[in-house]
Amino acid sequence: MQNYQDVLAEILIDSDSLQKRVTELGQQISADYNGQDLLLICILRGAVPFLVDLSRNIETPHMMDFMAVSSYGVGRRESSGSARVTLDLQTDIHNRNVLLVEDIVDSGHTIAAVLQMLRTRQPKSLKVCALLDKPERREAHVPIDYLGFAIPNKFVFGYGLDLDEYHRNLKFVGVVDLEKYIPAG
Ligand code: IMP
Ligand code: MG
Repeated sequence: MQNYQDVLAEILIDSDSLQKRVTELGQQISADYNGQDLLLICILRGAVPFLVDLSRNIETPHMMDFMAVSSYGVGRRESSGSARVTLDLQTDIHNRNVLLVEDIVDSGHTIAAVLQMLRTRQPKSLKVCALLDKPERREAHVPIDYLGFAIPNKFVFGYGLDLDEYHRNLKFVGVVDLEKYIPAG
């Protein structure tokens, strides 16, 4: 895999801006769920850094759990329109206030499928918190209750988002230079 410096076209959202916005979202969620039970569900793997920073900014007591869905494989950057659960929750969400934490809503198919599946388990409430939104790409309608940033239709990486599974560790969100990037495989 190339170093990130070699495939970075521009930094779209720097670390300070991310931390500031995540802090604000945490405060908003703390106020909205004040006095209520809350379960954060992190969609692996892209939402991990966001979940960690967000959770540390939520002041109300809450639990967290993790699930994985496959819609994008290595080397594929288009959502298929369906999503398959590859790792299910450990927690029974019946009657719980559930907040789904996702890195990015692109076509919307992933979140739409996850919401539909989780609704059958009858949570008390079910909301979505997404760090990024690419509204131009939306195909499936999904309500985003808490949003970090709306971004243009560009392929981005860093702060959880991957480039063929690499570079999730970066502290910023950057745009991929598709002329310089050499896809894996
Ligand atoms: P959707 O089903 O099209 O909304 O796809 C959402 C998933 O695609 C996200 O959870 C990401 O894992 C992935 N994805 C979409 N856009 C990007 C991007 O620009 N960079 C990295 N991953 C992306
Ligand atoms: Mg994801």
